[in-house]
Amino acid sequence: MSRVCNFAAGPAKLPDQILMKAQKEFMNYQGLGYGVMEMSHRSPEFTAILTNAQQNLRELMKVPDNYKILFLQGGGTGQFSAVPLNLLKRKKADYIPTGMWSVKAAKEGLKYGTTREVFTKGSKYTSIPHPDTWTMDPEAEYVFYCANETINGVEFQYVPETNGIPLVCDMSSNFLSRPVDVSKFGLIFAGAQKNIGCAGVTVVIVRDDLIGHALTECPIIFDYKQQAASNSVYNTPPCYSIYIMGLVFDWIKENGGVDQMEEWSIAKSNLIFDMIDNSNNFFSCPIDKDARSRMNIPFRIGGAAGNEELEKEFVAEALSRGMAALKGHRTVGGLRASLYNATTVEETRKLACFMKEFQDRHEGNVKVSATITQKSVHSSQLTNGSSKATCNGLANGHTNGHTNGHTNGVART
Ligand SMILES: Cc1ncc(COP(=O)(O)O)c(C=O)c1O
Repeated sequence: MSRVCNFAAGPAKLPDQILMKAQKEFMNYQGLGYGVMEMSHRSPEFTAILTNAQQNLRELMKVPDNYKILFLQGGGTGQFSAVPLNLLKRKKADYIPTGMWSVKAAKEGLKYGTTREVFTKGSKYTSIPHPDTWTMDPEAEYVFYCANETINGVEFQYVPETNGIPLVCDMSSNFLSRPVDVSKFGLIFAGAQKNIGCAGVTVVIVRDDLIGHALTECPIIFDYKQQAASNSVYNTPPCYSIYIMGLVFDWIKENGGVDQMEEWSIAKSNLIFDMIDNSNNFFSCPIDKDARSRMNIPFRIGGAAGNEELEKEFVAEALSRGMAALKGHRTVGGLRASLYNATTVEETRKLACFMKEFQDRHEGNVKVSATITQKSVHSSQLTNGSSKATCNGLANGHTNGHTNGHTNGVART
């Protein structure tokens, strides 16, 4: 069986070791004679799976004791409703509109109170305006932001200051890819299907004082108080998704924890950004350098407007060489490479080398439409880590060994 390098934005790649372990246990979990999918959610075995996952996540993120960890259903979109239903108390909240997900969240919040955007958003999401330009309401119940806008490729390199107002963060697409100080947040949520598992479960980490204020019309399965009191088993939880997520937490622990995930993430994103920045505008990324996402990199071929013919050719040829899902989001166009935790440095290098080779073959024939002016990098993080796409021996776009994971597969530079 050959697996491709999967650069999908989500649901996304899972480490091979996890899929193989799940396959092994699929019909017979630890000698029980049946699998996790067939197991009672109130059995001691499933309770152990859930408790282990919670404990490992608490350890990985150093979650303080005054926060509950909930595993809920409804996805990130469910939390766009659950957050105001639990926190808004019919009053007002501020939203930081850096991309399509935060804007969707603000719109959903309007059903339950007043949600206000802290700056006037432009027609495209390619930057994060400086916090000095935001107008924050000191009476807001919470401030909501999305740490990484998956569609637009905009990622915060810092945690916004809210001067005591609870900070709510959608971390769906960069969860566990970098260390965060949980104590700066009132609530963090993340759907599992990008960095930590498969679709079906959403992690909510919520500070104790924000629990117990749900509006009366809040559906009981979204009521943080009910879910905290029943340890996420008020009703049947997404058992199999929780099991897979638990395997991902084990895998992250075994591979050096969040610090190692970040190191790989810096190395991987630098490989692609270096290729783009040194391509003489053959490739371009529309995002300001200080807001570039390490997780989702949107890019175009042939200048800012893109050359759609060539982009189609790029996607098709990449696929024929074992690199899938590089087409950009339908609302943005162009190309997008998603580099979640499970994607290896070696797979990313293969993509970078293919980009180089593609450029060498086509650049003479392409008229670059317009260049993009960007702000310079402020974050030193963007320049750390390995960054040179060494394509020696990879001239045809083939790696010298497709790898199953990080531990035995990462070529460090
Ligand atoms: C940052 C972000 N937030 C929210 C969502 C919505 O998640 P879901 O599809 O699980 O509702 C997504 C989905 O891609 C996302 O990327």
